[in-house]
Amino acid sequence: MSGSMSPGKALAIAMAAAFCLLAQTADEDAKALPEGSGREVTGRVCINCHDSSNFRKLRLDRDEWEREVGLMVDNGAKATDDELAAVVDYLVENFGPTSKIHVNTAPIGEIKAVLGLTAAQAVAVVDYRQANGLFKTWQDLLKVPQMDAQKIEAKKDLLAF
Ligand code: HEC
Repeated sequence: MSGSMSPGKALAIAMAAAFCLLAQTADEDAKALPEGSGREVTGRVCINCHDSSNFRKLRLDRDEWEREVGLMVDNGAKATDDELAAVVDYLVENFGPTSKIHVNTAPIGEIKAVLGLTAAQAVAVVDYRQANGLFKTWQDLLKVPQMDAQKIEAKKDLLAF
């Protein structure tokens, strides 16, 4: 067997390579947050122990975000009271019950949760975006292989470009 790699090892290496391609730096992740007041502080405070998917995939109201941010302070998130208030405002504005999804920058977890797609479909959206450039209209999403046209059309008013 000298020189040839076991199938298991080859698979592990392929998976590690795929993971590296998907992984973003914290800085890129923060820059991909929707624009608006509080974006910088939210990136700094909340993209730290985990990436933005943890919060971008959610759609919570003000009470729920206040509670969630409080839990993160318990987890060890460091910020002043003013910064935390700005973070809550930003989260309510951009990830509130009726907030749109920015399909050109949203992470896989947000695409999956907010559009109700399967994990494979959400990955396909991101792959398509990386290969073909930005989506401009909701119909562009229908070009993604294996896309669920009914789900996309049902959510078309939630999509932001
Ligand atoms: C000191 C580390 C730390 C910081 C900073 C931090 N978190 Fe977390 N967060 C955690 C841990 C630990 C968990 C639980 C494990 C996990 O889901 O990754 C978690 C989980 C979450 C979850 C639940 C995810 C799920 O799958 O249900 C949300 C939402 C969340 N964080 C939002 C935030 C927000 C918003 C901020 C900024 C205010 C923030 N986090 C900052 C440590 C942190």
